[in-house]
Amino acid sequence: MESTFLAYQVKKIDDKFVGKVERLKISDLPEGDVLIEVAYSSLNYKDGLSAIGNPGVTRKYPHIPGIDAAGVVTESTSSKFKPGDEVVITGYDLGMDTDGGFAQYCRIKADWIVPLPKGLSLKEVMILGTAGFTAALCVNHLIHNGLSPEKGPVLVTGASGGVGSVAISILAKLGYNVFASSGKKDQYDFLKKIGAREVISREDTQTDSNRPLLKEQWAGVVETVGGKTMEYVLRTTKYMGGVASCGLVGGAGFTTTVLPFILRGVALLGVDSVQCPMDLRLKIWDKLSSEWKPDTLDLLASMIDLDGLDTAIKEILAGKIKGRTLVEPKSSM
Ligand SMILES: NC(=O)c1ccc[n+]([C@@H]2O[C@H](COP(=O)([O-])OP(=O)(O)OC[C@H]3O[C@@H](n4cnc5c(N)ncnc54)[C@H](OP(=O)(O)O)[C@@H]3O)[C@@H](O)[C@H]2O)c1
Repeated sequence: MESTFLAYQVKKIDDKFVGKVERLKISDLPEGDVLIEVAYSSLNYKDGLSAIGNPGVTRKYPHIPGIDAAGVVTESTSSKFKPGDEVVITGYDLGMDTDGGFAQYCRIKADWIVPLPKGLSLKEVMILGTAGFTAALCVNHLIHNGLSPEKGPVLVTGASGGVGSVAISILAKLGYNVFASSGKKDQYDFLKKIGAREVISREDTQTDSNRPLLKEQWAGVVETVGGKTMEYVLRTTKYMGGVASCGLVGGAGFTTTVLPFILRGVALLGVDSVQCPMDLRLKIWDKLSSEWKPDTLDLLASMIDLDGLDTAIKEILAGKIKGRTLVEPKSSM
């Protein structure tokens, strides 16, 4: 008899998108070189968008979301991987139009797979997941732009979220003076515990001033919010500072003048984790498993199973999630 497995699958029923834990057959999975038994996945904002039918993320339903997966290879037709190998996958098309990590198995292309970095367990690598990898890319881009601790404070926006909380932890470990901006007054203590020296409110990062440049404050910014927050950080970043832009929870559009760029030499640094080339991807995972590995990984994560996804997806879409949500592909079903 063919093996079966459990997965959180989203179906389009009339005009609604409904997620449910289902028992599926291995042959239901898409084509691919490598079959992986998933040990852990994790929840990212994009998974929330996929689960509610956002066509910019997923167009084909029924669909298993989960842009992250870590586990053990059980079958492989690729010479790169063999059964028993521990691996991690973030980004590419996983969980978008390819069935993703919210399942006990996934089958994918070998080219998307990274061997589990030495220094991280399967659980730790998923506490980091796409959010942690993206946070590390932001830090990498800022450092390449010349950021160092003596240049001044670094601001992390959307601080209590996945990318924000890992970025704070990495920057604190590297000796930066980290300011966190957050809409969650009840999470200020958490943000300080994971490494923020100061916490400012979300309102402080949104100004009604029409002035194209405001007082210089930040040597660098990890910017996860977009919209009005991006407008504020571009006007307050110091001379030759960098703004690493990775997110849009506060809006995709923003208005600016060229003045931050031509008078202060501010660099706007785009960050993409999805198609990140494999050589840079391996370098970033290497950093995350060694000198950039957050000391506070346990503090960052809470754990759910497949049955907990409905609630967690609503929370992440409402901006209410704190830190990272690890997903163990189990169910009481
Ligand atoms: N470019 C890439 O490759 C890449 C990779 C991963 C993620 N992303 C993007 O980065 C962003 C953050 O991802 P994430 O996984 O960290 O999401 P998340 O865990 O949901 O965190 C987002 C945080 O942003 C803040 N926030 C929520 N709604 C807001 C609003 N309307 N205005 C201002 N702040 C708001 C909240 O933090 P506070 O309450 O503390 O303010 C929230 O916890 C998302 O837009 C995601 O799509 C991009």
